[in-house]
This record gives sequence, structure tokens and C-alpha cells, in this order.
Amino acid sequence: MEKELLIKIAYLIASVMFIIGIKMLGKTSTARQGNFVSAVAMLIAVLATLLDSQVLSFTEIFVTVLVGSAIGTVVAQRVEMTSMPEMVAIFNGFGGAASVLVATSEYWRMAHAAGYSMQVVVGVTIIISVIIGCVTLTGSLVAFGKLKGLINGRAIVFTGQHAVNAILFLAALALSVLVVLQPNVQIWMMGVLFIALLLGVLTVIPIGGADMPVVISLLNSYSGIAACATGFVLNNQVLIIAGALVGASGIILTQIMCKAMNRSLINVLLGGFGQTSAATSTEGGEEIVVKEVGVEETAMLFESASSVIIVPGYGMAVAQAQHIVRELTDLLEKQNISVKFAIHPVAGRMPGHMNVLLAEANIPYDKLIEMDQINDEFANTDIALIIGANDVVNPAARTNPSSPIYGMPVLNADKARTVIVCKRSMSAGYAGIENELFGYPNCLMLFGDAKSSMTKVVSELKELMPA
Ligand code: TAP
Repeated sequence: MEKELLIKIAYLIASVMFIIGIKMLGKTSTARQGNFVSAVAMLIAVLATLLDSQVLSFTEIFVTVLVGSAIGTVVAQRVEMTSMPEMVAIFNGFGGAASVLVATSEYWRMAHAAGYSMQVVVGVTIIISVIIGCVTLTGSLVAFGKLKGLINGRAIVFTGQHAVNAILFLAALALSVLVVLQPNVQIWMMGVLFIALLLGVLTVIPIGGADMPVVISLLNSYSGIAACATGFVLNNQVLIIAGALVGASGIILTQIMCKAMNRSLINVLLGGFGQTSAATSTEGGEEIVVKEVGVEETAMLFESASSVIIVPGYGMAVAQAQHIVRELTDLLEKQNISVKFAIHPVAGRMPGHMNVLLAEANIPYDKLIEMDQINDEFANTDIALIIGANDVVNPAARTNPSSPIYGMPVLNADKARTVIVCKRSMSAGYAGIENELFGYPNCLMLFGDAKSSMTKVVSELKELMPA
């Protein structure tokens, strides 16, 4: 068979496998296989690309693949589950950087040819790849810095920010036109690169605190769009399809995140949203007075309950308490106590964070109930057990218009007859704001690390409950 045809067939198979893989990722039961199918598809795409007659040096390719794979393997094995968002952020940035490097090197190759005149369509694809890739790169680096605490996580806002961004964007567009008209004048491309890199920084710095999930998924989508544009630059079908898939799924995820944070997508695209100001306190600004509860008392409360909703949050991931929570669930269910899990779409630090953790502890998927479905059930529930969650159960989102998270849909855990909050201290959550729930009359604070507190509660319960 002709080599070109073989490559095209391999690309087609890889593309179909990417789509099947993404579909399988939609369910926890098939997610692992979905990941495997997508990885095999990528291997097929890479091998097919190596058959390309335009390959200049296999040695360079293999050396860089080896170095890249070694770094990727070490990083992936070492990363803590709680640091996943930072890793996703930096990988998005690398995706953007790769697109920029490929597109600019294509540009330079063409621009060096004497008397070269650029076709508009070629110029447009190169420019899209360069601008979106640069914004993704520096935007992701800022997001990484914010998540890692290297840069202040709060929104950095200055007057005229939108106007500055708009002027820079228009300047980048004007320079882009010049790139197409005068491809040999390389200073135009330098200008586009510089402005786009700056725009990435400027569009992410005004975004703070709890809005980061939206930014990460949006940057993920950008990296896909940049890759898709690069596919057009190289006339590589599998890159176009894979990029489009990442771009589209990233946008869908962004929309889900927007809904969860009560933001409109246009708000996100314009940037400068979620300007988490200084930590706000309760509605009246008064200090929160809390009631503490011990492990024995907690176990006794469970013993006399008939329904429990567990609200997991970021702290459960930090403490790795999911396995002991599973044991607690089993114990309660043995006593015919109904146990459900309330899942907030942005609980934890990455989309689906809680689902992944609970699946790891083999908690049946049908026990995990989405926010919209479970919110009305809290009022008829004996105990809402909040494990390491904070922002996602903050009633200020419903009641305090001056709160930075006002309007964000939250879990109505405060409506349960008794609320038990398991966390180590009165520290704020990701959004950096106090939680008035902790001072509610029906709320009891079980202070301590989630894993060790739950372990103690479980052993108390084992003594209290008949085997
Ligand atoms: P948070 O509001 O961040 O609160 C987590 C709480 O866990 C903290 O208040 C902390 O209090 C407690 N904690 C930490 N370590 C603990 C441990 N070992 N044992 C027990 N508790 C521990 O978490 P959440 O309610 O899950 O909300 C998620 C937040 O992250 C939202 O604001 C969301 O917007 C943001 N965010 C989400 C994502 C995605 S996509 N999910 C990505 C980035 C940001 P103590 O220190 O007192 O223990």
C-alpha cells in the first residue's frame, strides 16, 4: 500500500479511537479503558507520523521523545492527587508552547524563502496558532503560579484593564495583518508573539480565588484550539481532529464549570471576573462562635440517625480519608441508616475530583448524587457530614450579596437537622472567605484531620453498634 494512504488510514483509526476514548471517559466504570484506548490512539498517530517522508532526523526525534517521556513519567508518578490542577495547568501551557513553536518555525521556514508571498489562509492559521498558543502558555504559567501559591491567588485588578487588553488585542491583530502582507519582515511576527504572551498574563491575573477552575478548563480548551490551528498549518488531519476534540470538550467543561460557579461564558472570555476581594466575614462582620463536638458524641449522633448525607471536599483529598469514609458508610448501612454523597461540581481542586476519590475507595457510583438532585433532600436528612469541604457549603453564596461567592450554587447542607463539619481549624477554604455555617445553631465542629477523626469515629461506632 502507498505510504501516504497508510498514514491517512492510521490517522483515521486514531481519530475514531480518540472519540471512543473520550466517550468512555464519561463513566467511572469505563474511564480507565477510555484512557487506555486514547493512549493507544496517540501511539498509532505518533507511529504513523514517523512514517512521513518529511522526517529529517530520527535520532533527534527519538532523543527528544526519550527525554520528554522520562520527565513525564517522573512528574506523573510523583504528583500528589491534590496537586493535579497545577499539573493540568502546566501541561496546558506546554500544549500552547508546542503549537507556538511549530507554527513559528513553519513561518520562519516560509519567510526565509526569497520572494515568498503568504497565502491569507496560511497566514490566518499560523496567526491563530501563535496568538492562542502564546495566551495559553503564559496564562497557564500564571494559573500554575496562583495554584501553587508562587503568585498571590487573589485577583490583581487595575483601572482600565479591559481597555488595555482590548488595545493590545487590536495591536496584535494589526501586526498579524502585516505578517501576512509582509512575511519577510520578521519584526511583525516578533510583535505578535510579544503582545500575545503579555495578553496571556493580563487575562489571567485579574481572576482570583474560587474562579480558577473555569480558567483551567478554558485554557485547556485554548490549548486544543491552538493545536487544531497548528494541524491546519502542517496539513495534519489527526492534529486537527485531536485539537478540535480537546478544544470542544474543554469548552463543554468550561460551560459546566461556569454553571457551577454561576458565571456566564462571555464573562469568562472577557476576563476580569471573580475579583475575590479581601476576605469577607459573615453578613454582619461579627465573629463566628462555634460549638465543638467530640468523636464519641459524633458516633452517638450517627447511631441515632436514620439518614446521612456526606459532603466531601478538598480536605478529604488532602487527608486521603476516602477509604475510612467507605468503612463508615458500610457500618452505617449495616444499621439500615441511609447514606448518600452530595457532589458539588467544583468540590476539591479539579473537575470530578470527588468522583475519582470515592471511586478509588469503591463507593458505588449510584450513591454519588449531583448537587441539583440532592439539594432538596438535605431538609429531610438527620445528619449532613461535611468532610473537608468549605466553600461548596457556604450559605453566604445564597444569603450575603457582598460575599465574593454570592450567586454561586452551593450544597444546602445547612438545611439538615444536624450538620457535623470535620476539618482541622477555622481556616478558610480556597476562596479565602469565612463560612457562617460553622456558627449556625444546628452545626457542630469536629476539629481534626479528616482521616484520623473518621478513623476514631469508626472505631467508636464499632463499639456502639452490634456486629
Ligand atoms: P475548600 O473550600 O477549599 O475547603 C477545604 C477545607 O478543607 C479547608 O477549609 C480546610 O480547612 C479543610 N482541610 C484541609 N486539609 C484537611 C485535612 N487534612 N483534614 C480535614 N480538613 C482539611 O474546599 P471545597 O469545599 O471542596 O471547595 C473547593 C474550592 O476550590 C472552591 O472554592 C472551588 O472554586 C475551588 N477550586 C475548585 C477547582 C475544581 S475544578 N474543583 C479547581 C480550583 C479551585 P482546615 O485547614 O481548617 O482543615
